[in-house]
Amino acid sequence: VKPTLIDRFNRQVDYVRLSVTDRCDFRCVYCMAEDMTFAPRAEILTLEELGLIAQAFVELGVKKIRLTGGEPLVRQNVMSLVDHIGQLDDLNELTLTTNGSQLSKQSKALYNGGVKRINISIDSLKPERFKTITRTGDLETVLQGIDAAIATGFKRIKLNAVILKGRNEDEIIDLVNFARDKNVDISFIEEMPLGLIDEHNRALSFCSSDEIRETVSAHYPLTSSDETTGGPSHYYTMADSDSRIGFISPHSHNFCHLCNRVRVTVEGRLLLCLGNEHSADLRAVLRANPGAIEPLKDAIIAAMDLKPEKHHFNLDEEPDIVRFMNMTGG
Ligand code: GTP
Ligand code: 5AD
Ligand code: SF4
Repeated sequence: VKPTLIDRFNRQVDYVRLSVTDRCDFRCVYCMAEDMTFAPRAEILTLEELGLIAQAFVELGVKKIRLTGGEPLVRQNVMSLVDHIGQLDDLNELTLTTNGSQLSKQSKALYNGGVKRINISIDSLKPERFKTITRTGDLETVLQGIDAAIATGFKRIKLNAVILKGRNEDEIIDLVNFARDKNVDISFIEEMPLGLIDEHNRALSFCSSDEIRETVSAHYPLTSSDETTGGPSHYYTMADSDSRIGFISPHSHNFCHLCNRVRVTVEGRLLLCLGNEHSADLRAVLRANPGAIEPLKDAIIAAMDLKPEKHHFNLDEEPDIVRFMNMTGG
């Protein structure tokens, strides 16, 4: 029999989100503090160590690996890791979540390395506003990146938008129209309270999936779909378009009972839940047994007992989770 990872609540873990860097060329207001400091080099895993972790998970039955960050494409030589993971037997899907800034340059190499689906973040189609939300990003570069990805032929491209009151809630329909024009999917994400960001009040900016769905429905009637990509998005279809509209609603529609995933930070912390600190130190195991896969697998199996039942996010209180989203890999 093939090994599988099962937690105490009988959930099977077959999806790993592997963060390849905590660094990013953007500083999105909901994700990072402006003066973010990043992990020093000695603390972060090498690409070889990340590759070994990926292999250990696949040998334990994991079917899907998503590379995240920070911005995964700013990691030096990330393509060697992509090529390595893309060749692992028994992995069904290698995917990537990106801010799009490097896609014009790297889209083809990603595709050739075995990445078949990518998610690209875009919160605004107005250049000035895009700059304000990302603090450093350039809209035109990201739009070119999206076009490059489409031209490359990725199977299903998904856009991600975090809607914030007072910032971009007036662009919901423009973003849907953009997705329809490009024939790609789009997911709207409820903001999650990870890390304290002084000048950004999450309780005030919070916009629920239900509000967004009402806005969309008024323009385009939506039909709930059972299709899933194995992630938390609940998808809806429109009668006159192939684009799907997804909603990721950790606050309003908790999906923890269906959770099938764990995360690994670039420091080798195996995080059992996005909204909790339960974790195992894979880096310590790796560095005590360089190059050895069995101790790593044992540590991963043992960690399954630490996976908590669910997260409790509360936007009105100081965040329990001090780690920022860029350290977590989303
Ligand atoms: P697929 O798994 O391929 O469907 O993609 P995805 O939508 O899960 O991945 P993506 O990287 O695009 O993430 C979109 C958003 O979903 C990010 O903000 C993630 O933080 C959020 N997300 C993904 N998994 C979880 C989860 O287990 N819990 C919570 N609260 N949010 C999650
Ligand atoms: N809450 C919700 N989504 C977030 N993202 C980054 N930080 C947060 C947060 N605090 C989103 C990004 C990207 C995805 C991986 O996570 O916009 O689309
Ligand atoms: Fe970078 Fe993504 Fe965080 Fe924006 S949300 S700062 S693009 S890691």
